[in-house]
Amino acid sequence: MTMNYDIAVVPGDGTGPEVVREGLKVLAAAADRFGFELNFHTYNLGGERYLETGELLTDTVLDELRGMRAIYLGAIGHPDVKPGILETGILLKMRFELDLYVNLRPIVLYPGVESPLADKGPDDIDFVVVRENTEGLYAGSGGFLRKGTPHEVAVQESINTRHGVERCLRFAFDYTRNRGRRKKLTLCGKTNVLTYAFDLWQRVFNEVATEYPDVETDYAHVDAICMWMVKNPEWFDVIVTDNMFGDIITDLGAMIQGGMGLAAGGNIHPGQVSMFEPIGGSAPKYTGQNIINPLAAISAGQMMLAELERHDAAAAVESAVKRVILNDVKSLAAGRMGHSTSEIGDLVVKYVMDPS
Ligand code: IPM
Ligand code: MN
Repeated sequence: MTMNYDIAVVPGDGTGPEVVREGLKVLAAAADRFGFELNFHTYNLGGERYLETGELLTDTVLDELRGMRAIYLGAIGHPDVKPGILETGILLKMRFELDLYVNLRPIVLYPGVESPLADKGPDDIDFVVVRENTEGLYAGSGGFLRKGTPHEVAVQESINTRHGVERCLRFAFDYTRNRGRRKKLTLCGKTNVLTYAFDLWQRVFNEVATEYPDVETDYAHVDAICMWMVKNPEWFDVIVTDNMFGDIITDLGAMIQGGMGLAAGGNIHPGQVSMFEPIGGSAPKYTGQNIINPLAAISAGQMMLAELERHDAAAAVESAVKRVILNDVKSLAAGRMGHSTSEIGDLVVKYVMDPS
């Protein structure tokens, strides 16, 4: 019997639809070669839709998404919509309502990609960030007092629950064990200043660690992590951290792996519907020109295949991406690839179908 997966596709705004189109081409090719089926269900969500209808992520759509095996998203963001509306109303709502409690961000320098870090190569930059994705400063706890007056108070609290911290740490320990590279997990926190939140993180980290004697553990403050990511990225295998620190260090990670052109992420709840996306955003200035780099979206598709446990297909997509980078592209930057967006997609498809 052929396995069949229902995939929600959210092309979104800006260059989202262009990169998603290439990602779908590659996913379809991988499914074809490895003998399974992907049924794509397209959802029109994003800034364009919001400006036309006032609708963000509705409960009806959310319910449909819950019934899918995975979600494949291009980009959400629109220059005519005030910052915060689409983020809160679509992306964060999806994370919170679907309880996508892990944000998984591989930071891998592929051969042929130039890192801004002189002297660092593919052997040095190969780690993964596990970011808690439903709590911390993102939980939306806080408010204003006396807003708009000279005595205004703005409070934004970091929410860290035992349950939320523990499930994220357990995911990170499992992931480190299964990744099987150096089996080293680094907790990134700020125990010297955030003495409540990261006290909890540190205690639960130490406790869960006793169940994983094969995983080496380490701790570093977030500011030091930023320094080591630049100076000694080879020290890291898996880093686990809270929502806000994870947001910041994963953008730093995207830069050391050669830029947003390759940065992909998964928003994951193991065993439930999870969402995969390139993290570069909607890049309005490149929209509609067929010059944006689709490799991050294609890599997000690869992460989705891994989550569907189609590891053979995921590996084939990864090799094809590596081959395009090594043989075909001049640069990963939009407009400077030496190929159009759709040509890059075609090349990846070709290498997926004919890996010789
Ligand atoms: C990310 C993004 C989001 C975040 C924004 C768009 C809300 O920066 O996925 O890292 O801050 O989490
Ligand atoms: Mn971010």
